[in-house]
Amino acid sequence: MTSKKRVLSGMRPTGRLHLGHLVGALNNWVKLQQEYQCFYMIADWHALMSEYEDPKGMAENSIEMAMDFIAAGIDPDKSVLFVQSHVPEHLELAMVFSDITPLGWVERCPTYKEQLREIKGRDLTTYGFLGYPILQAADIALYKANAVPVGVDQLPHLELTREIVRRFNALYGKAIFPEPEPLLTKTPKLAGLDNRKMSKSYGNFIALSDKPHEIEKKVSQMITDPARIKLKDKGHPEVCNVFSYYAIFAEPHLLDNVRDWCEGAKLGCTECKKSLAKILVGYLEPMRQKRANISEEDVRDILKEGAKKASRAAAETMAQVRSLIHFVQIS
Ligand code: TRP
Repeated sequence: MTSKKRVLSGMRPTGRLHLGHLVGALNNWVKLQQEYQCFYMIADWHALMSEYEDPKGMAENSIEMAMDFIAAGIDPDKSVLFVQSHVPEHLELAMVFSDITPLGWVERCPTYKEQLREIKGRDLTTYGFLGYPILQAADIALYKANAVPVGVDQLPHLELTREIVRRFNALYGKAIFPEPEPLLTKTPKLAGLDNRKMSKSYGNFIALSDKPHEIEKKVSQMITDPARIKLKDKGHPEVCNVFSYYAIFAEPHLLDNVRDWCEGAKLGCTECKKSLAKILVGYLEPMRQKRANISEEDVRDILKEGAKKASRAAAETMAQVRSLIHFVQIS
């Protein structure tokens, strides 16, 4: 493999990927392929931590996720695209990290406390879920990743990763693991179609695999400026969710027109949303075409190849780790 710096990132296959994932992460992942040796992972072990009561969708979600990655521009010839559970070393390294991580570090993790508080309807007070960031640290360290593209919500996990690898390096007297840097995406957060946080559980998103008529229907139901009831009422783009979508997906010169339609009461919200739907359908069109050209069979082959490449890197790291922790070797 090349001497480029390494990137690793992952997503949990808990549902369909949506526009928020695309502008918040995937587009950036695609760009990073030019500069880094990238490892992109479908984090099924992490998904199981929250979906263990009903994991039925996991296999299908994993395949669909890989398809979305590829359709978005992750190139399996440049990057290693794989499923976490296909490389068992993730769990081995997580075990080592579990042994060296003080309980307080994981108990105090802000995302842990927040999720226990916020996520209703499932029991997350499990041993495995407490170890979520430890497994994530292992994901990153296993490939000696220098950088990790993540959203701000993941920063505590990255900080913990840095602390864990620092502790490992210090304990065993050899700095085999780099301290990974976060690569934050600058794109503003995309709100859900109903103005709430875009989320699988609210069903308020446009999936990357949605068909044009589905996109049109969803956009037509978007909430606009509540003060603009009649066509003649002047609107306020700055409070309109539809406008915030234009701001991200429309060509800049069009944005002034849209502002004028709204503030000048020149075009009704229904028409404005139709025009947005057209833009979004066009934006996702290249992905739709790519998707149509990949079969599930192709995806499985790509994941098989990815698992092989990832395993090679993972085995190298684990050999070093085993030697540093003085486990007996028999060959
Ligand atoms: N925790 C990440 C998320 O929920 C997913 C993830 C698992 C990850 N392992 C990772 C992200 C390693 C970056 C690096 O989005």
